Amino acid sequence: MFALTSIGHLVTNDETVGQGKLGVLNDAAVVADDAGNISWVGKQTELANYFDGKPTDVGGRAVIPGFVDSHTHLVFAGDRALEFESRMQGKPYAAGGIKTTMAATRAASDDALTANVARLASEALASGTTTLEVKSGYGLSVRDEARSLVAAKTATTETTFLGAHVVPPETNADDYVALVQGEMLQACKGHAKWIDVFCDRGAFDVDQARAILQSGAAVGLGTRIHANQLQHGGGVQLGVELGVASCDHCTHLSQLDIEALAGASATTVATLLPTAELCTRSPFPDARTLIDVGVAVALASDCNPGSSYTSSMPLVIALAVINMGMTCDEAVWAATAGGAQALRRTDVGNLRIGSRADMVVLDAQSHIHLAYRPGVQQVGAVIRGGKTVVGSL
Ligand code: NIG
Ligand code: FE
Repeated sequence: MFALTSIGHLVTNDETVGQGKLGVLNDAAVVADDAGNISWVGKQTELANYFDGKPTDVGGRAVIPGFVDSHTHLVFAGDRALEFESRMQGKPYAAGGIKTTMAATRAASDDALTANVARLASEALASGTTTLEVKSGYGLSVRDEARSLVAAKTATTETTFLGAHVVPPETNADDYVALVQGEMLQACKGHAKWIDVFCDRGAFDVDQARAILQSGAAVGLGTRIHANQLQHGGGVQLGVELGVASCDHCTHLSQLDIEALAGASATTVATLLPTAELCTRSPFPDARTLIDVGVAVALASDCNPGSSYTSSMPLVIALAVINMGMTCDEAVWAATAGGAQALRRTDVGNLRIGSRADMVVLDAQSHIHLAYRPGVQQVGAVIRGGKTVVGSL
């Protein structure tokens, strides 16, 4: 067992124990059991009734749940720094860049792919991400998608088969869609929890995406979709129709898309990925409108070598607040409990009794400082499953 005390500002995401949607408690303490789960949360003055060891004093700092980054593409080789540089000189972002990473990924060894996942997962952990979804999608062959997922599994149980990222150059769309639904799905389903499709310009259309997602669901995979990133299209409405866990990006939305997401908020989350817009110089998604009409919104990093080569959830939060009209409370909720909802998890993204003891001790007085001090390293320590894995306490 261990306990933290003298928490000046504790975000629990439990409205029944603290103030507002973030369930904030001041002068608080948390106890974790030997299994790494939260066993008590409350006022520090009551701690002695629940813990008889020596608690760790965090000196009045803020503690929040670990970030749940529900959308990343960490399995790849090489990088696309030159593509980024030319984009910054005016060349627009296009889905075709994925093929550059595909070539490097196919040429990489299993060990190199696993090492890349480990490197980026540990970078994410250092900025407070304690739960991570990881997609395949740069292999685009049966063998390379399957080994991408094996690499993803070394870092997380939240693995996603994204064979339908783009059509690889050696084949045509019809044959490739059939391959993804057939042999590739058979080779990948045992390594994946989810299936995803990039439904957008230069990738897959609505009918192709529907067929692929339905095939994945038929073999027991949960569904999610990359939708409406590059242009208006039918991806979001398809996602709602299929009851996917999350429609991701949601950059270009019509009124009908917004209404569809609002009507599906109990089932389907809108996951916004503002670092992709930042790094592709695209308009930010309209989070304010989505939240105002009742859409469940999550925030994630989209960490990948093309459109968003960052794993920093604090940066995502700062952009969401400063550029997308989200309040500090909404952004921190979306990066923790919202991400958990996008993965259909209730045991992470909050500090309720029974949830995982996944926490970030901030070198700051409150969660507001995540947006207030953009780009500043404020992660004092990261605790995962009750163990301090970054920093020291
Ligand atoms: O989520 N949109 C599709 N996939 C990634 C980008 C992939 C790439 O450019 O390598 C994304 O932004
Ligand atoms: Fe993505």
